Amino acid sequence: MVKAAVLGAAGGIGQPLSLLLKISPLVDELSLYDVVNSPGVAADLSHIATPAETKGFLAADDGLEKALTGCDIVVIPAGIPRKPGMTRQDLFTINAGIVRTLIQGVAKFCPKAYVLIISNPVNSTVPIAVETLKEAGVFDAKKVFGVTTLDVVRASTFTAAVTGEVDPRKITIPVVGGHSGETIVPLLSAATPAVSIPEDKYAALIKRIQFGGDEVVQAKAGAGSATLSMAYAGFRFAEAVLKAHKGEKNIVEPAFVYLPGVPGGQEVQAAIGGQLEYFAVPIELGTEGVAKATNPIPNVTEAEKKLLEVAYTGLADNIKNGIAFAQEKA
Ligand code: NAD
Ligand code: LMR
Repeated sequence: MVKAAVLGAAGGIGQPLSLLLKISPLVDELSLYDVVNSPGVAADLSHIATPAETKGFLAADDGLEKALTGCDIVVIPAGIPRKPGMTRQDLFTINAGIVRTLIQGVAKFCPKAYVLIISNPVNSTVPIAVETLKEAGVFDAKKVFGVTTLDVVRASTFTAAVTGEVDPRKITIPVVGGHSGETIVPLLSAATPAVSIPEDKYAALIKRIQFGGDEVVQAKAGAGSATLSMAYAGFRFAEAVLKAHKGEKNIVEPAFVYLPGVPGGQEVQAAIGGQLEYFAVPIELGTEGVAKATNPIPNVTEAEKKLLEVAYTGLADNIKNGIAFAQEKA
């Protein structure tokens, strides 16, 4: 039996993500938590003729405790999204506290659950979650993920548009680093199958993948950021975790993880210069979460080395902010 929770379930990502979980055969029970409207969303979804029993909870009356108790997987898209002109770091002031509070709930009510963090800035909210779980004495690095799948999805879509491949799903590109602008590093040289990008199109393609989020923020013109593509990406990652949990083999998806605590993480950490404790790399998933973090760095091109150097600097600051916030509040 698998019980899943979505925290922030009434939001732009939360609603379609909850819909996908409700119709997934991998989920038996679904808890929807938000500070507004979650009972309404749950009532709506509960009419869908699939087995997953769906309930909604608000903060009042121990709602977080009721939503989380017994959960095996918790997906967190709670928090404010960007408007044009904002960076993801601009969301820190509000979202840092939201994530911390929700993770305190996870630590208390379902400490063994997989935790999938979507709330931005992911480069900082994941360190906040990790510090909060460490503080509560229940941290398992193999089970905490910053969801970077949307970058991977965009990399396939935008690269296919350049190569002319009609089905973008046939192109897999490891995207490493973090989840914001120049910390997002698509490794086109490691695409499967190999792709050939004309030299005059390379820089624009990289930039489009790195700043794909901005395209949506601009197009929505103040009404938020990516929600539907993110629900798809968040579900894809949750499904990967659950399938691997049930024993399916050879499931690999990039995610932003705490390297010192996962198998293969120390090797990755050494490959990226030894400084950063968090990095998105392709993760082989197993029955207990991260089975192995893989190191896609050794064969990178000179152009990719330059992208990585820029990413290291940006990431170091974002990670430091997250850790400082969590430790200050502890
Ligand atoms: P939204 O405003 O539509 O929804 C957020 C929801 O969170 C709302 O329903 C709100 O009520 C709820 N919420 C606020 N405080 C809460 C709390 N304390 N507890 C529970 N719920 C709470 O926003 P959205 O478009 O769904 O985006 C949510 C977050 O996801 C944003 O931070 C956004 O930047 C991020 N995001 C991340 C990625 C990624 O790739 N990781 C992609 C897109 C968006
Ligand atoms: C995205 O990549 O679409 C999200 O991180 C939302 C954003 O702020 O761009």
